[in-house]
Amino acid sequence: MKLNILVTAGDGIGPEVTSEAVAVLKETAALGGHDFAFTEKRIGGVAIVQDGTPLPDDTLAAALNSDAVLLGAVGGNEFNSLPPDKRPEAGLLKIRAELGGFANLRPAFAFKELAVNSPLRAEIVDGADILFVRELLGGLYFGQPRGWDKATNDSGGRAWNTMVYSREEVARVARIAFKLAQVRRRKLTSVDKANVLEVSQLWRATVNEVAAEFPDVMVEHQYVDAMAMHLMNRPRDFDVVLTENLFGDILSDESAVITGSLGMLPSATIGGKVNLYEPVHGSAPDIAGKGLANPMGAILTAALILRHSGGLESEAAAIESSVRKVLEQGYRMPDLARGNTQGLTVLSTKEMGAKVRETMKEQLSAVGS
Ligand code: IPM
Ligand code: MG
Repeated sequence: MKLNILVTAGDGIGPEVTSEAVAVLKETAALGGHDFAFTEKRIGGVAIVQDGTPLPDDTLAAALNSDAVLLGAVGGNEFNSLPPDKRPEAGLLKIRAELGGFANLRPAFAFKELAVNSPLRAEIVDGADILFVRELLGGLYFGQPRGWDKATNDSGGRAWNTMVYSREEVARVARIAFKLAQVRRRKLTSVDKANVLEVSQLWRATVNEVAAEFPDVMVEHQYVDAMAMHLMNRPRDFDVVLTENLFGDILSDESAVITGSLGMLPSATIGGKVNLYEPVHGSAPDIAGKGLANPMGAILTAALILRHSGGLESEAAAIESSVRKVLEQGYRMPDLARGNTQGLTVLSTKEMGAKVRETMKEQLSAVGS
């Protein structure tokens, strides 16, 4: 299998977690005789500083020429006063739009070993296994009109954003979500605010139309406010959760409470020209460069590259089970070792990456022998 992977590590902890994900991919290539090539380019704050723009042209060109893009994280406190279109995040939104992937898959899986890290009781989170399918190219993030009229004659001016979806934009992401539900537990929960918003009424009607193509999948609709509560009360009841862009952004961070830490969550964006892979966490500038960042979200993101861009399901599963094994053996990053750490070994970012690779090597060679 040949894959050209563009690595855009970005800001803060992006470079350190991404390099562990790349090391895992290199190990997988070596073990399985695959040919993975890696190119590195700048995005986000580091690109603003060095190139004067959060998404340089050569980064975008390299992305469009690759088979998969692995992104670390973007953002930093020094950019907080910039307007939205000048910030590091603008580079991320632009690369998402240009690559065209509209279905952002965010699996939230509750590892048994991490139940103690969740403020929720173990019997509530244990066994939770949710796949969020977040629409990524529509809604408030990209809707027009948008703006801030600072000159308006009331205090602070007026600002506006538009939540807009076409029927087709809803149908295409719904179709992907239903297909994924078919190979999971065949339940789909669509999230909206149809008691208030026309755009949500269109969303709900379209999801119901698409549902008719998938009679084997059970569909339910939840209002986003109620869903935020259900996720905490009964996370195990959900399988595939389909949301518009902003609702998915919010609910996927909330799901970190179920999994024990945001540092565990991977994501893959599919459906466009080139798939884009990024851990769900941000750039965490406060812990950058200290070896404290949890690389597991990035490593699990590498598994998604193998699954969705390489068709290498068994290698993807080997990475996921190595992460599980390492947790079973009591190895933790600081974000997963709060409270009672008796019997746990807290590792640095690099040590954790090495541990996962070592475990993966053992697993894959055991299969081969
Ligand atoms: C995410 C992030 C991004 C988003 C930001 C950094 C633009 O929060 O991927 O969840 O809002 O989509
Ligand atoms: Mg987010």
